[in-house]
Amino acid sequence: MNRLVLGAQWGDEGKGKIVDILTEEADVIVRYQGGSNAGHTVCVSDKTFILHLIPSGILHPEKICVIGNGVVIDPKSFLEEKQTLEDLGIDIGERLLISEKAHLVMPYHKEFDARREAILGSSKIGTTKRGIGPAYTDKHARMGIRVCDLLNLEVLKSKIEENVKEINRLCELYEIEPFDAGKIFDEYRDYAEKLKPYIRNTVYYLNGVFKNKRNILFEGAQGSMLDVDFGTYPFVTSSHPTVGGAFTGTGLPYKALDSVVAVVKAYTTRVGNGPFPSELTNELGQKIRDKGAEYGATTGRPRRCGWLDLVVVKYAAMINGVDEIALTKLDVLDGLDEIEVCVGYEYEGKKIGYIPSQLEEFEKCKPIYKTFKGWDSTKGVLNYDDLPENARKYIEYIEWFVGVKVSIVSTGAKREETIRR
Ligand code: IMP
Repeated sequence: MNRLVLGAQWGDEGKGKIVDILTEEADVIVRYQGGSNAGHTVCVSDKTFILHLIPSGILHPEKICVIGNGVVIDPKSFLEEKQTLEDLGIDIGERLLISEKAHLVMPYHKEFDARREAILGSSKIGTTKRGIGPAYTDKHARMGIRVCDLLNLEVLKSKIEENVKEINRLCELYEIEPFDAGKIFDEYRDYAEKLKPYIRNTVYYLNGVFKNKRNILFEGAQGSMLDVDFGTYPFVTSSHPTVGGAFTGTGLPYKALDSVVAVVKAYTTRVGNGPFPSELTNELGQKIRDKGAEYGATTGRPRRCGWLDLVVVKYAAMINGVDEIALTKLDVLDGLDEIEVCVGYEYEGKKIGYIPSQLEEFEKCKPIYKTFKGWDSTKGVLNYDDLPENARKYIEYIEWFVGVKVSIVSTGAKREETIRR
């Protein structure tokens, strides 16, 4: 069984834990998009691991992890993460493969990411400043530098020189100090040496895994509403966290996918700017933020919090062909008298049940809520039938509205605090 785990909201749905659980049933785990902008938190025993680039499957001994061609790799961030994992006693050995077709994040990408945001001022996107947008821009402009270029230092040198020449012209415009191609080459030559043991043609490798009927788990990063095509453009990331990204980002055919698991948080959060109709800007929003530890795993930024928006989840289920929902952080809603769920929007006096493409329209949408009675505690509950009745009603309403079964319910941060149905 080859599964894909993806986010159905704006990221931070708790994918790390779900991937960690489903890894038990997989042989190979592959990341297909994004870069070190992701922050997948996994709690094992008394240790908390935050993974940015390396698939969370690495925490399980014997599982093979692949960073697919659709990912953009910052070698510096990769090596730091690898070191942190090794310091925590995780043996990576030969269990990690990096696609030679993946693109590299270069120092100028990070600098331009930050500078563009500064220039945009109050209309900034609120990026993670990890150079993601500029790295994908270069990829699509066909001037990117790929992991395989690290295997030929002459090619690497000339590509860095060509790129820096062009970038330095832009530096003047953006009021950034020009870059030194020689310095960047020296830095990346060193990375080349360190990354070499992991570099593989993962397209052939993964297709071999598929042919041999070993189980593959696709690990999505970010969320459907941050997809560059289907999200709240331009307040999105520059990759495809949706199902299509899994194919273009690995080289596996669509037949290699048996099931799509959407991770849905029991409420909604978003980091960065952009419309968020069910946002709570009051004390309750702060309460959820604190209780749910809603602070960015990558940047530490406070996440914007609000009620569950089922229009968003239903849309994500539609575009991704979702088979199952994993509902996370249900326990964060424990102890509330009433819980609201957004079931539609009011736009210029009319009720609508879709997400408008025009940002200006979406920004004017007011949430239409259905109110649910709260419950005492779901914390650590292990059987569905042991959940409070009102919590079950909440879950069953989600299933009815979205038309997809909730097969996993997470009732705490630990691996064990999980209900499988
Ligand atoms: P970028 O991916 O750094 O370019 O940021 C673009 C948008 O995506 C910003 O709103 C970020 O906050 C958001 N974003 C990027 N990665 C994540 C993530 O892993 N979780 C949640 N939001 C993210």
